Amino acid sequence: MKINRRSFVKGSIAAGAFTAGFPHIWIKDSSLAYAAGGEIKVGVLFSLTGTTGIIEESLNKATIMAIEEVNAAGGINGMKIVPVVEDPASDPATFAEKARKLVLGDKCVSVFGSYTSASRKAVLPVFEKRNNLYWYPTLYEGRECSKNVIYTGAVPNQQQDEFVPWLVKKFGKRWSLIGSNYIYPKEENNYCKKLLAGLGCEVIREEYVPLGHSEFSSVVNKFRSEKPDVIFSTVVGDSVVALHRQYRAAGLNPDTMPMASLTTSENEVAAMGGDAAAGHFTSAPYFQVWDSPENHKFVDAYRSRWGADKVTHFVSEPCYFQVKMFAEACSKLAASDINPNNIREAVKGVEMMAPQGKVRLDGPTLHTYLWPKIGVCKSDGQFEILKQSPTWLAPVPYKAYENQICTEQGLQES
Ligand code: ACM
Repeated sequence: MKINRRSFVKGSIAAGAFTAGFPHIWIKDSSLAYAAGGEIKVGVLFSLTGTTGIIEESLNKATIMAIEEVNAAGGINGMKIVPVVEDPASDPATFAEKARKLVLGDKCVSVFGSYTSASRKAVLPVFEKRNNLYWYPTLYEGRECSKNVIYTGAVPNQQQDEFVPWLVKKFGKRWSLIGSNYIYPKEENNYCKKLLAGLGCEVIREEYVPLGHSEFSSVVNKFRSEKPDVIFSTVVGDSVVALHRQYRAAGLNPDTMPMASLTTSENEVAAMGGDAAAGHFTSAPYFQVWDSPENHKFVDAYRSRWGADKVTHFVSEPCYFQVKMFAEACSKLAASDINPNNIREAVKGVEMMAPQGKVRLDGPTLHTYLWPKIGVCKSDGQFEILKQSPTWLAPVPYKAYENQICTEQGLQES
């Protein structure tokens, strides 16, 4: 058995060297006074512009609202959370530059950020080198086991294990896969293909389009001629809007050839119009229509803070509850002990009632127990929930890789 993840102690010692702008200076993270003058600084790193601005702008809003709620309720043992907001403009290199600024320049104790896995991968070295914490709310491909990321979105087993067999039974075994061209859709499809192979299905097309792609007519023509039973979509950002609109304009029928997505939320549907999304399916742990007291409170607060036309969705919801998890972890610590290392230890095993149901931060993997649901989109832009997992589902970030497992000691390979 081999342990790949850098041990925390080694990470702390190695964490000293400042990069750009601060050469030759070594600082031990634990010596920083993160909670100073009654304030705790955190970074908020979501794109307000660029191709994923369509969704990340709402992640910024949910994060800011959660911070405001914590502060209005007395803060963390009387200390206010102070957000430092940056716009990385949907560009991985800018994400890395802004992350360095937040961690090294602003001395934030944690940063909440990222939609795409490309941007998470870009900032990861900053957090691992400085032993800081990145709180990542987005569904993603798994296959990561960093001590410096708290993962609160779904991994493939939490979105696909119920969804794929359900779709095969309802629609059939000939599938086409369409995704944006980067790590997330490729890894997510890798898991999908394993499930499909086990169910005796055939993948008749697997196609990737550039991020920001908006011309889907040739892909849609292939769907028309090949007639797959299911179109499995991991297209992201404003391409989701273009794909759905062009599918509808081509007169294809979701009753016989539905799109089944892991990335189409109420937010993209609001941008494309409910008619373009009606009849297509999404698997996610949260939909705005979920009927629970916690969700009614979340939706009402979000709409009164940001506008009655605004929607909540399965990435903004983890943005909201992960700030509350951060606050709960910090509140267990004396002000002088608030640092990334102690926050990580304090958040392990935290359970709370989130809008989607009771969630739990899994100590060994730093991923989250979530409640998978299947929804069909309606023409009013909301989803009807057709199915919910009978229990919360444990995250298995390496489920597609049978010889690898994420543990407290790091990634173990057999
Ligand atoms: C994603 O890139 N994790 C949606």
